[in-house]
Amino acid sequence: MTIQREDILRAAACLRAGGLVGMPTETVYGLAADARNPEAVAKVFLAKERPHSHPLIVHLVDFSQIDQWAHEVPVYARQLAEAFWPGPLTLILKKRPEVLEIVTGGQDTVALRVPRHPVALALLQAFGGGLVAPSANRFTRVSPTTAAAVQAELGGKVDMILDGGSCEVGLESTILDLSAGVPRILRPGMISPAVIEAVLGVKVETRRQDFPDAMRVPGRHHLHYSPATPTALITTSALKTLAVNEPCVCLTYSGVQLPEQALLQQVVMSSNPVQYAHDLYAVLRARDQNQFQRIYIEAVPEAAAWDAIRDRLVKACGTT
Ligand code: TXA
Ligand code: MG
Repeated sequence: MTIQREDILRAAACLRAGGLVGMPTETVYGLAADARNPEAVAKVFLAKERPHSHPLIVHLVDFSQIDQWAHEVPVYARQLAEAFWPGPLTLILKKRPEVLEIVTGGQDTVALRVPRHPVALALLQAFGGGLVAPSANRFTRVSPTTAAAVQAELGGKVDMILDGGSCEVGLESTILDLSAGVPRILRPGMISPAVIEAVLGVKVETRRQDFPDAMRVPGRHHLHYSPATPTALITTSALKTLAVNEPCVCLTYSGVQLPEQALLQQVVMSSNPVQYAHDLYAVLRARDQNQFQRIYIEAVPEAAAWDAIRDRLVKACGTT
């Protein structure tokens, strides 16, 4: 698991030659490619089987590179970068004209973030430029949080995977749109609207239903972030009387005791949302190997600290 300097240099050379590298970040593993090379970016879409209408995030080594990708950068961007970069926050900004259309899905904005995993930062430093890095999973599937999960998802389609251990955060970055005046959350993450508001001193828009159809709101696709096994959310009270007649697994967090049944396996998750987020994708992936007919997930609290988790769970269940 220890990454040597020569691994980083080899990965940077591979990216310069138009290759694809599985890159650890603090959120989830990304599938990295040179963001200025249209053939390399096209390979990312092919490997993920992802439609071109879903644009990519460009990863940078630090804030100083932002002007190479965005223009009319608002002061909010600098304030947020100082507070949260490197870290799990992606900013949507007006793009410079030379940013490739295949990266932005033809929109006039670009998504930018500085990740905080040391391997990602070392790779970005050695490479020198911006790297697109969508989560390293096949389209609609659960994002990988270990190198082994990247191998399982995309092995054979990537030139190299850098093993940076298990991802610290475990859920994808918060996406904040700064391109339209009022800051708006497009994808909730573990950096919450409240902490963003505290830095900016303004209200952040979080409602999702008002977005015009043409806008690429992350995760709008039916069954985004979903296991192959049918997955359903279930309330704590319904769990107490859950009866199954085929092999099922149930993820709980509240300390609820499930009725004893040979066909029902209980997985006790943390009741701390930070730890729950860290564990969720790995737990889902391990239980999504055809051994169960159904995955039940106890509905999580309404509290803001659970917003990003609830967002992913609702999508995993295909209920949007
Ligand atoms: O934590 C993360 O953000 C991870 C790690 C690897 O950095 N990356 C990630 O990338 O989650 P991906 O491609 O799986 O999700 C990026 C999301 C997409 O849903 C896309 O719709 C949205 O970002 N996006 C990209 N560019 C956009 C833009 N210009 N406007 C609105 N949404 C955009
Ligand atoms: Mg993704």
